[in-house]
Amino acid sequence: MSRRVVLLGAPGAGKGTQAQKLAESEHLVHLSTGDLLRAAVKAGTELGRQARAHMEAGQLVPDDLVFRVLFERLQAGADGFVLDGFPRNRAQAEELDRRLAAAGTPLDAVIDIEVPDAKLVARLTGRRICKSCGRNYHVDFLPPRRAGACDACGGELHQRADDSPHVVGERLAVYHEQTEPLKAYYRGQGLLTTVDGDKPVAEVTSALKAALAPGAPAPGVRANAGRRG
Ligand code: AP5
Ligand code: MG
Repeated sequence: MSRRVVLLGAPGAGKGTQAQKLAESEHLVHLSTGDLLRAAVKAGTELGRQARAHMEAGQLVPDDLVFRVLFERLQAGADGFVLDGFPRNRAQAEELDRRLAAAGTPLDAVIDIEVPDAKLVARLTGRRICKSCGRNYHVDFLPPRRAGACDACGGELHQRADDSPHVVGERLAVYHEQTEPLKAYYRGQGLLTTVDGDKPVAEVTSALKAALAPGAPAPGVRANAGRRG
């Protein structure tokens, strides 16, 4: 099992859903820069105050703020982590490479979860999140057992501030312009595997685990390509 993993994918591709499952089953630290930034906004820190306007507009938060929330935690999880939502541009990818190389703990795998844009809008606008534990749901695709309440802890479900239709459009545009080019960056390093994310959650999880298992096909192969239909 590879231990240091990056999940790439557009907003709504399922990075958070899948990272949470991988972290639980493979005992990895799940690090989501989006979650860390939202926690800073909620706590009202100076960093959160600076990040907030960028997030609400669907733009990337400046790199120096993101590095500050991430790298302290990344060190603590250096033996095994799954990164969700980072890196998001070339400068972040190069900084991550530098830090991991200096620690002698390079990435083992980068998995791109692919979903067509048309499906992403429905996923994002229907998403609901537990206020207490952060677990993700979807009103149609992954409903809680009791409407409005978290299955795991009973907490209240709410909608993210940046999941309104116009902000979702901006987030997708930013993804295509700044983050999608990282596929070529990691393909060039021989690390990239692509998984079809337009499948039921459990199927995507299986494909991710297969891609990370010892003896998995070499990166570059589409891990669940044969199962479409
Ligand atoms: P972030 O929190 O990372 O948001 P995102 O990348 O836009 O991605 P999402 O969290 O919206 O989607 P996801 O891929 O995690 O999908 P999920 O599993 O929830 O970032 C938010 C903001 O913070 C950014 O816009 C930026 O401002 C800032 N930021 C964060 N990181 C940054 C960085 N590194 N640099 C600069 N700025 C940064 O699934 C979505 C929905 O679909 C859910 O309802 C889920 O239940 C459902 N779903 C999941 N899988 C499936 C499936 N297979 N079938 C059907 N439904 C599914
Ligand atoms: Mg997420």
